[in-house]
Amino acid sequence: MVEAFDVVDIIRSKRDRAALSTEQIDWLIDAYTREYVDDAQMSALIMAIFLNGMERREIFDMTQAMIHSGERMDFSSLSKPTVDKHSTGGVGDKITLPLMPLVACFGVAVPQLSGRGLGHTGGTLDKLESIPGWRAELSNEQILQQLEGLGGVICAAGKGLAPADKRLYALRDITGTVEAIPLIASSIMSKKIAEGTSALVLDVKFGSGAFMREEERARELARTMVALGTDAGVETSALLTSMETPLGLTIGNANEVRESVEVLAGGGPADVVELTVALAREMLASVGQPDADVEAALQDGRAMDTWRQFVEAQGGDPDAALPTPNETHTVVAEQDGVLVRQDALPFGVAAWRLGAGRARASDEVVHAAGIDLHAKPGDEVRAGQPLFTLAANDAARFERALDAVEGAYEIAPAGTSFDRQPIVRDRISS
Ligand code: URA
Repeated sequence: MVEAFDVVDIIRSKRDRAALSTEQIDWLIDAYTREYVDDAQMSALIMAIFLNGMERREIFDMTQAMIHSGERMDFSSLSKPTVDKHSTGGVGDKITLPLMPLVACFGVAVPQLSGRGLGHTGGTLDKLESIPGWRAELSNEQILQQLEGLGGVICAAGKGLAPADKRLYALRDITGTVEAIPLIASSIMSKKIAEGTSALVLDVKFGSGAFMREEERARELARTMVALGTDAGVETSALLTSMETPLGLTIGNANEVRESVEVLAGGGPADVVELTVALAREMLASVGQPDADVEAALQDGRAMDTWRQFVEAQGGDPDAALPTPNETHTVVAEQDGVLVRQDALPFGVAAWRLGAGRARASDEVVHAAGIDLHAKPGDEVRAGQPLFTLAANDAARFERALDAVEGAYEIAPAGTSFDRQPIVRDRISS
């Protein structure tokens, strides 16, 4: 086979800040998937992209080339419109669990092809696997049947979607190039577009527990992804949301399922409800239901009914007891005052050290492990009042978890004013 390009020329072009042509990008991703271009060459190129960036057209071409490296799902046979949500991930982010049934109960199909957690952010599938019997693996046929019937599915993404991204993501991880916006945007959007949804809402987070620390970088990532989705014919918008403190009162797996069920029962913490409702409104508006009364569907049990059907359809028992930990350790306030800071990242790391997350893809998570928060920033606390409880199956894990949260929260003198900010800070559309 005669190769159409020389990879060294392509690396030099990007090194010297030129834009790559559509043909060069198509060839490059195909040659990398065929293993003709090796990891050393690809590493040099992605570092050049990290340093010199890419134009909107190049990012679009990169995304399309990654989509073409694998299979595409096809939801066109469904009688309902499809709308999906993607979150860039954060600590205590269980929103997919209440959101999917809430949107699906309005007659919309919600395909949530999800992943497992790695590092301090949890994975949706790990959380759901706390439910006895619940299965993440579904065939494409089962996915279609469930979407047509009850309207929603949360399951493992097939390995065939954008396989070039899988290799490239692993390479970025070991070459210090994860944070490049063109690479993040094309990685996320290639999988979402290959999944075949007609509308997509992105939850792009910023703050200590998010992938992007600064709001402006998160905004730039959101704009880039919205443009990519729009250019690919997917109705795409994004909410820019804060991830300075953990979302809700639970970080872990089984405890996050418990909190999600509270939201579906019409209760739950205010921040989880705010974000669930905002994303549900955005998703329903994107498929022509801008006036859907989503709060009513949480209060009157419609979303809960869809949740129960969903859990049963995937082999789970919605009434089964969730796993409980062998050991707990509660930390109390040392003084009276106002809790003014609770940093997301250290609490995420602590939950991970308790066993709620994994360090390697092959590790098992402990479903009962995690953290229950008893106070949130802005709450008044009294000396001796519980601030948070650590849960694990082995008490030996508490010491390193406590190390992680050392200095991660602050109690200011009683009467200190605290400005509660909304979670949703901005909306970005094309
Ligand atoms: N998630 C992805 O799938 N890709 C990235 O690059 C970052 C987050």
